[in-house]
Amino acid sequence: MKAPHIPVLLEDVLRAFREIAPGTLVDATLGYGGHSSAILEQHPGLRLIGIDRDEEALAFSRKRLAPWRKQTTLIRGDFAATVPALKGEPIVGLLADFGVSSLQLDAPGRGFSFESDVLDMRMDTSAPRTAEMIVNTYSHEQLRRLFAEYGEIRIRAADRLADAILAERAHTPITSARQLSALARRVLGSRGNIHPATLMFQAIRIEVNDELNQIEKLLDALEVMRPSGAIVALITFHSLEDRLVKQRFKQWIRSCICDPRALRCTCGNNHQLGTIPFRKPVTAAPAELRANPRSRSARLRTFVFKEHL
Ligand SMILES: C[S@@+](CC[C@H](N)C(=O)[O-])C[C@H]1O[C@@H](n2cnc3c(N)ncnc32)[C@H](O)[C@@H]1O
Repeated sequence: MKAPHIPVLLEDVLRAFREIAPGTLVDATLGYGGHSSAILEQHPGLRLIGIDRDEEALAFSRKRLAPWRKQTTLIRGDFAATVPALKGEPIVGLLADFGVSSLQLDAPGRGFSFESDVLDMRMDTSAPRTAEMIVNTYSHEQLRRLFAEYGEIRIRAADRLADAILAERAHTPITSARQLSALARRVLGSRGNIHPATLMFQAIRIEVNDELNQIEKLLDALEVMRPSGAIVALITFHSLEDRLVKQRFKQWIRSCICDPRALRCTCGNNHQLGTIPFRKPVTAAPAELRANPRSRSARLRTFVFKEHL
């Protein structure tokens, strides 16, 4: 079965889960089941719960994971709402490979790619908010802030993009990704190999899918659940996502949670939730970078929760 997506950092993910105990593995972003099927091949006794917002991805994975059908449950939904509901499960591992899949990016009807005839960008095609709605209804200030915050675009360029969108939509609605990416090219010009619309598209996609809030809520859920001995492996694709993961893991290894200005510790100095096996995030090796350009910005961070005695 030919998968429409190459799993990133696959060997590193397998290494992260090498010592996984018997129990349930949650794949919070199942996609095309590339990571999950490889983990199940190495650990055939695991139970798998696979979550995805995208029905197309789940339908593909249902077939791919058929050899493990009896031990697999697939759930359509977002991980922020689904993971907290798994409270009673003996979770021994959780993987999330954030962002969009190659199939979502490449399918012209999904509106993620620069040349798409539509302007959609929803991972869950039943969700109410599309990129078209955002581009045609947000105020100048909302667009400017969105591009600056989620696209990390310099404020003057964000301003010019917002100006151009308002001017364009005053006489014709913006209804395709092609129209929007052409606008970005006119406003920003093109330099190097990266399409000038890349950061603006990233910002809109994050907004459409509420991506950063989803990650925050997943981290909140794990902080409450503290699954005993569980290995958590999270792959991010840009600095905004990576910062959320890095900061939360850092907070979880702190034993003392007193105000840093306090003269002495009064918290009991026993708040550490677990350990970080590798301080530095794992990134793709040159061979993977050559084979799969999508791995260019992937960063894997791992956290291991303490065992409850
Ligand atoms: C990069 S792909 C995962 C690929 C997968 N690891 C594989 O090997 O095939 C990310 C997937 O996560 C899904 N996704 C992203 N954010 C999600 C969320 N908040 N809740 C549920 N699924 C999400 C997307 O729909 C997409 O299918």
